[in-house]
Amino acid sequence: MNVRTHHLRCIGCGTVIPGEEARSDFRCPLCNELYEVQYAWSEGAVTPPGTAAANLPNPNALRWLWQERKNSTAPADQSGVWRFRDLFPILNDMTRPVTLREGNTPLYELPRCAKVAGVDRLLAKHQGMNPTGSFKDTGMTAALSVAAERKYEWVACASTGNTSAAMAAYAARAGLRSVVFIPDGKIAWGKLSQSMDYGALTIQLKTDFDGCVDLLTELVKRFPIYLLNSVNPYRLEGQKTPAFEMLEQLNWQVPDHVVVPGGNLANSSALGKGFLELKHLGVIDTVPKISIIQAEGANPLYRWFIDSNRIMKPVTADTRATAIRIGNPASWRKAASVIERMGGWCEQVSEQEIALAKAEIGAEGVGCEPASAVTFAGLKKLVRLGTVKREELTVLLLTGHTLKDSQYTIDYHRGELLRPDEIAQQTPQETAQHLALQKAPLVMDPNVDAVVRLMEQRMKIGMPV
Ligand code: F0G
Repeated sequence: MNVRTHHLRCIGCGTVIPGEEARSDFRCPLCNELYEVQYAWSEGAVTPPGTAAANLPNPNALRWLWQERKNSTAPADQSGVWRFRDLFPILNDMTRPVTLREGNTPLYELPRCAKVAGVDRLLAKHQGMNPTGSFKDTGMTAALSVAAERKYEWVACASTGNTSAAMAAYAARAGLRSVVFIPDGKIAWGKLSQSMDYGALTIQLKTDFDGCVDLLTELVKRFPIYLLNSVNPYRLEGQKTPAFEMLEQLNWQVPDHVVVPGGNLANSSALGKGFLELKHLGVIDTVPKISIIQAEGANPLYRWFIDSNRIMKPVTADTRATAIRIGNPASWRKAASVIERMGGWCEQVSEQEIALAKAEIGAEGVGCEPASAVTFAGLKKLVRLGTVKREELTVLLLTGHTLKDSQYTIDYHRGELLRPDEIAQQTPQETAQHLALQKAPLVMDPNVDAVVRLMEQRMKIGMPV
């Protein structure tokens, strides 16, 4: 009998199936819920006959092995995702994944942002430093490797731009054809350019992200195409590894809080799964609280969180943080379960708060795209509310690179991002904060005297006579 390393377990009714037997839309035929990948060692695992034994090394050996692989030149070892492959054996041949050497992203100190928020120490795990500039690479390397191993010729996703960029790149590396569905108009140029550059068939649908998902869900039922949206549970297996990497970078000290942006709600789910698995295996003995921050205009999880009946109602989404312009998040049940099991909060932040937070992260020399900045805007609120304490160690998950949406940044610094009615809502203090951060470029004639006069003024020093 074929020995299986993993199964898929429905998060709704608990049905366990072999990985290749999932329906093309990755929903359970019995209850329409999503699956999660389960191993013999998973908490509460039901292991059908023929499952590989749970023969994992002990926690110390795992930590040593993951560190040791950094010295290897093998592509799988150089990847900051596959280095942790012991905890996600999803391929028959785990040594030959489709990799762009993703992961290995920096954990930065944000001392000035810490001061602004009122905490002693603040860190940012910058997932925008991945090969295609977003955290999606960590999940795409995993799920696309499964597609390649299962001999699919076509892969597809609906996207607000980052998933499509990552999918197009990894598909091209593997020699697969890819098709992306993105909302017409509401996507940052950097992301749109990537899917074209990496050779995807790029289809801009005259609808929003949720409309793109609906169309693609129909398409995969009629066409032999492998769906790479985050309903695909293998994506989450790769996306759990930044949790491992962050802990390694903290010398296995578990932070008190991890703050993540919430869109389709897969990333928060994946990180939660990662932390909970490490605790279950005895690699760590506590887990952080995971808080999810949404934009006010795309806030279905926030509404669920503050609703005493905890009912999820989709919304029509609108925010300039286009990456998280999502009204009907597929993975909301998984994310809700992470909040309920690990603790943590859900907050919403306004367009003004997102713009300010993004500029503050930029002014630290780090930068990120608008959707990532919701984390810092949300943290400031959580500290004000007293839910995050000054002495507690917090890590912000910055999900995308600042160059993904340079138009947003330019508009902000030129003072053209926010509408007059939005500016009118700001307090004088907020207006002063924006003005101190805005660095619009100055257009000048190439006249040395004029430039010297300007520099004098800016440097506030006297010139020698
Ligand atoms: N931040 C960025 C930069 C994103 O691109 C996304 C999602 C999120 C946060 C939210 O993560 O969906 O797991 O809650 N972008 C998807 C895309 C939807 O198509 O690129 P999530």
